[in-house]
Amino acid sequence: MHTPVEGFSKLTKEEKIQWIADNCTKDPKSAKKLLQQYWNTDPKVQKTHDEFIENTLSNYYLPFAVAPNFLINGSWYTLPMVIEESSVVAAASKAAKFWFPRGGFKSSVLGTEKVGQVHLMFHGKKEELSSFIATVTPKLWEDTQTLTANMQKRGGGIKNIVLKDKTQKLKGYYQLHCTFETLDAMGANFINSCLEQFAKTIEREAQDYLSFKNGGNIPEIVMSILSNYVPNCVVRAEVACPVREEKSETSVSRRFAERFVQAVSIAQSEPYRAVTHNKGIMNGIDAVVLATGNDFRAVEAGVHAYAAKEGEYSSLTNATIEDDHFRFWLEVPLALGTVGGLTSLHPLTKLALEILQNPSARELMQIVAVAGLAQNFAAIRSLVTTGIQKGHMKMHLLNLLNQMGATESEKRRLVDHFNDKTVSTAAVKEGLELIRKQ
Ligand code: MEV
Repeated sequence: MHTPVEGFSKLTKEEKIQWIADNCTKDPKSAKKLLQQYWNTDPKVQKTHDEFIENTLSNYYLPFAVAPNFLINGSWYTLPMVIEESSVVAAASKAAKFWFPRGGFKSSVLGTEKVGQVHLMFHGKKEELSSFIATVTPKLWEDTQTLTANMQKRGGGIKNIVLKDKTQKLKGYYQLHCTFETLDAMGANFINSCLEQFAKTIEREAQDYLSFKNGGNIPEIVMSILSNYVPNCVVRAEVACPVREEKSETSVSRRFAERFVQAVSIAQSEPYRAVTHNKGIMNGIDAVVLATGNDFRAVEAGVHAYAAKEGEYSSLTNATIEDDHFRFWLEVPLALGTVGGLTSLHPLTKLALEILQNPSARELMQIVAVAGLAQNFAAIRSLVTTGIQKGHMKMHLLNLLNQMGATESEKRRLVDHFNDKTVSTAAVKEGLELIRKQ
C-alpha cells in the first residue's frame, strides 16, 4: 500500500524524473534516459513546453503533417494536421485532390454565439427571482464593463443574459443563460471571468434585496462556467458536382453517388454506424484543431452533443442526389480561436496558423469543417468501393515493419513487395521472415 507522495509539485524536473523512474518503472536507468531523450535540445524551447502544464517530465511527440491541395471558397490551402493514425493525412490529401477539379469546398459560418451559465438554486416564488434578476441586470452589465471593454471595442462582448427556469428538471434549479461574441478568441477565460463576476454581483445584490430580506429565500449560486455545447456557433462545409453515368474529371458516377448516399443514410438512421462515421469526421477536425493549438476536448464534447440534438445520435453529414447533382455537406459546432491560449505560445501552432495564412477564427472554423468533410468523404468513398483496409493497411505497413524491427533495406523491399498485395500483420511477418531467410 503506497502512501501519497507529498510535495511532488515542488520537486525539480530532474527530481520528479528520478522519483518516477525509481517508483514506477522496472528499469529506472532506461526510463530516465528515455524521458531525457525527448527533451528539446534548446533549453528555452523546452522551458516553454515545460510551462504549458504542471509536473512536466518530457515531451510526447505526435507527428505534424500537412495535406495539400485544398480549394476552399476559391482559395488554395495546405492543411496542417497533428494525428497519430496512419492513412488519415493521405485520405485528406486524396479527398482534396478529388474535389479540386470539381469546384473544391464551399464553407460558411452560420453563427458564432458562445454560451456560459450561472447555475443557481432558489426555493422561493419564481416571480420574486424574476423581478430580482430584472432589477440587477443593469448591474450585471455595469460590473463587467472593465472585463468587456476591449472585446466591445472590437465588436464583441456579452450579447444576452436570460434567466431560465429549470425547475421541471431539478427542484429549485434556475440558470442565468448568457451568450457571448468572442471574435478571434475561443473565449473560455473571457466568458468564465464574466460569469464569475455575474455570480458575485448576484450574491452582493441579493443581500440587500428587500423581498429576499423579508421572506428569507435567497438565491444560492452553485457554479459559473462556460458551456462547450455551442449549437449556435456552427459552420457548414459542402461539396457538389454533377452525376453522370460514368465518372469524369468534373463529375461522379451515378453508381458511386447512389452508394455514397446510402452509406450516409445508414449513418443517419443507425447510432452504431453514426458514431464510427462521425469518428472519421473527427479524424480530420481534431487533427487541424490540434495543429492550430485549439482545445480538441471542447470541440469533441460539443460536436457529439450536437450530433444527438434530435434525441438520437446521428450522422453529422448529409448527402443527396437531386436533378443529377450530388451534394455532400457537414454542419458542426466549432468554438475555435486564432488568438490567445496555446495559439500564441506553441511555436508549431504559430507556424500551423501561418501555413493557413493566419486565418480569423471564422476562417479557421471553415477550414476545420472542410477537414472533417474531406475525411468523411474519403472514408465513405473507400468503404463503398474498395473497403477501408486496402488503403489503411498500406499506410499502416511502415508501422508494422517498425514494430517488427525491420531495417531500412528490409522496409524498402517489403514496401515494394506489398505495392500490389494486401497488407495484413501475418503477411508482413511472413514477408519479413522470408527476406531474412534469403
Ligand atoms: C477510422 O479512423 C475512421 C473510419 O472508421 C471512419 C468510417 O468508418 O467512416 C474509417
